[in-house]
Amino acid sequence: MSVDNEIKGRLALITGASGGIGAGCARDLFHQGAHLALTYSSNRAAVDELIAELQSKDATRRLSSHKVDIGSSEDIQRLFDEIKDAHNQPGPDILISNAGYGKRIPDIIDISLEEFDYTVSINLRASFILSKLAVPHMTAQRWGRIIFISSIAATGGGINGCHYAASKAGVTGMMKNLANKLAQHGITVNDVAPAMIGATGMIPDAKFVEGTAGDVKNIPVGRLGTPQECANVVSMLCGTGYMTGQSLLLAGGLR
Ligand SMILES: NC(=O)c1ccc[n+]([C@@H]2O[C@H](COP(=O)([O-])OP(=O)(O)OC[C@H]3O[C@@H](n4cnc5c(N)ncnc54)[C@H](OP(=O)(O)O)[C@@H]3O)[C@@H](O)[C@H]2O)c1
Repeated sequence: MSVDNEIKGRLALITGASGGIGAGCARDLFHQGAHLALTYSSNRAAVDELIAELQSKDATRRLSSHKVDIGSSEDIQRLFDEIKDAHNQPGPDILISNAGYGKRIPDIIDISLEEFDYTVSINLRASFILSKLAVPHMTAQRWGRIIFISSIAATGGGINGCHYAASKAGVTGMMKNLANKLAQHGITVNDVAPAMIGATGMIPDAKFVEGTAGDVKNIPVGRLGTPQECANVVSMLCGTGYMTGQSLLLAGGLR
């Protein structure tokens, strides 16, 4: 039986590439030869700069930028239409559903219903819609990689409230179900569950979380994680077709 773990020449869709972890994944998959479709919501300049940086390294690569409110199913459908135009294929070979949102509200009493619904729509519903649109092309070619960026919150940890935990636990549940259903079509589905990744909009630096449970004093390895370390795990999953249905905790020893 032949084993195909080639990333070179594949099209990777990375949502939230204007943020820390998304940009890290984009750089790493580009390094391995992927074409990229990158989304942003408000920070167009970040993706423009990233594309200019990557294009200066290899001008032959297809790199496209897409403005998408991931809370809007119409926007996600338009994203797939734009991908078809830019890359001449109906969807990505690799889906990294990374765009996410999490207003830090630790106490359930303070979490409004609107905040709960919005968090679930950005973190969970969007991953469902993206996967639904990505699966037909992956199934047709009998090759695909779907990777969700979950969180340590999915298993009850982290510094945020139950709204964020519920949205990320939903992602992990969906991942496990899809992994079971899609393996027969050559599609693997996994998630990466980070905690305390610095150089991101969520956690700019160690000072930002000083005095919270995420204080670096409480992280066994004694520092924040980096977007590149998230990208390392994402790229490993892209290149490892025998691994599916796994949630990989990337948390410096935190539980
Ligand atoms: N940093 C951590 O320690 C950590 C830990 C656990 C999980 N995560 C997860 O990692 C993922 C990436 O976050 P990050 O840490 O890299 O933070 P970040 O730098 O703030 O990036 C967040 C990204 O999500 C995008 N986004 C937010 N709301 C959106 C919306 N409504 N529509 C479309 N895109 C939207 C942002 O786009 P714009 O900036 O263009 O608006 C940005 O690209 C998230 O899913 C987050 O939950 C992070």
